[in-house]
Amino acid sequence: MNSGLKSAQVSEPLSLCVVGAGYVGLTAAACLAQLGHFVYCLEADSEKVSLLSQGEIPIYEPGLKELVEANLANQRLKFTCDPSQAIENATVGLLCVGTPPRFDGDPDLSQLSQAGRTLVQSSDHDLILVVKSTVPPGSCEALELIFQDTAEDRIRVNVCSNPEFLRESHAVWDFFNPDRIVLGVDEPSLVALDRLYPSDWPIIKTDRRSAELVKYASNAFLAIKISFANELADLCSKVGANAEVVLAGVGADQRIGSQFLKPGPGYGGSCLPKDISGFIAVGEAVNLDLQVASAARKVNTQRSEDIAQRIETVLGGLSNKKIALLGLSFKGGTDDTRYSPAIGLAEVLVEAGAEVVAYDPLANIFGKPIPFFRVESPYVAVEDADGLVIATDWEEFGKLDYQYIAKLMRGYDVFDLVSKTDPIKLGEAGLNLYGLGKGFSIESHSLLWTSLLWAM
Ligand code: UGA
Repeated sequence: MNSGLKSAQVSEPLSLCVVGAGYVGLTAAACLAQLGHFVYCLEADSEKVSLLSQGEIPIYEPGLKELVEANLANQRLKFTCDPSQAIENATVGLLCVGTPPRFDGDPDLSQLSQAGRTLVQSSDHDLILVVKSTVPPGSCEALELIFQDTAEDRIRVNVCSNPEFLRESHAVWDFFNPDRIVLGVDEPSLVALDRLYPSDWPIIKTDRRSAELVKYASNAFLAIKISFANELADLCSKVGANAEVVLAGVGADQRIGSQFLKPGPGYGGSCLPKDISGFIAVGEAVNLDLQVASAARKVNTQRSEDIAQRIETVLGGLSNKKIALLGLSFKGGTDDTRYSPAIGLAEVLVEAGAEVVAYDPLANIFGKPIPFFRVESPYVAVEDADGLVIATDWEEFGKLDYQYIAKLMRGYDVFDLVSKTDPIKLGEAGLNLYGLGKGFSIESHSLLWTSLLWAM
């Protein structure tokens, strides 16, 4: 656990109610309790509440279980299904429920309005409701009207924005080491919010619409960076350059930055795909065509098909080929499989006639039907495989025994989409390694000729 985590404390703790014990809510509740606040986490699922109250957490998030246990023990963190109990002493409620995309790309805010209305109906005192979920600009204002209408003249309700920037698998570390905390508050008298985070943390206080848009724009920009890296890797393959070196050279410019420039099977998860669509929808609502974001989304949507086609070319077809797939979660270090590019690719491969046998150390499929087999060992997955695809950047995939894998496989081709393997070790094992942005393809000769013409 990071040292900043233990020492960070607020000077004037608040009584808080956090609604929702999903990835965002549970992390926020545990971390806010660790900062010194007294937190009631309100969750509708009674089974989840009884598990959490015993320190059992239903998701995999490094460091979170320890925080939940410690703060249950010191009574700063409690879980309940009862809204009246959760809000009894709290003047600030944090809304951390889902805003899934609707069919048209706009987020569905019904869980948010339901959560807020429940708190308002259960409270006998004024409330400040803080929206942590990702919402389009104007949402906090709209929600405030709905909540005030529910409250009639009984209590006063203010709604503020405090978007969350935590990454799954690093959420606890991110909470205690924020690049910025964004607080969108239109009402200057809401001083309680100044007590939410330690005063020496990097806080940007602004109006609600700007705060809401910081979140959308941040996730859209991360998605744009990744799609740019993926296109650049494809260009590198075509012109015989090495994407790893090119992207390191590009990212070394501090104005650009090296993070989120790693090529891969496309971005996934419950946030980036949803939020870039939400961002585009915000533009559409005001007749603005956000073309850069739209292009980044298109690159990502086509990624599975493009990669499957490359695999098909190398293997000489996919029909009746057995493909071993390592990785099912949307990125390494998490059990989350929502909008996982690995699963998207597996579906395309199966559709094209391949038999896919997958392995992942932790992925939770949430009981969803999958059109491929899942086995409990990478070595079982590769048995008699014509090709091996590595689609999630789990550390362990770089440390496998590739000599043994080469013996188990029928074919020799390894498609490492996440740059986890050592080319020398794979070469020694007699395997052919195909990475992203590393190939020297036949088309490159035409570039040589063009360069020669320009040079003459
Ligand atoms: C993302 C943002 O990074 C967080 O700041 C934000 O709080 C969160 O969404 C959210 O809105 O709740 P997360 O979804 O946990 O966090 O995942 P990321 O680490 O951003 O990765 C997203 C996808 O991009 C993954 O599929 C990952 O493999 C891919 N990726 C990431 C790349 O393909 N290349 C990269 O260089 C980085």
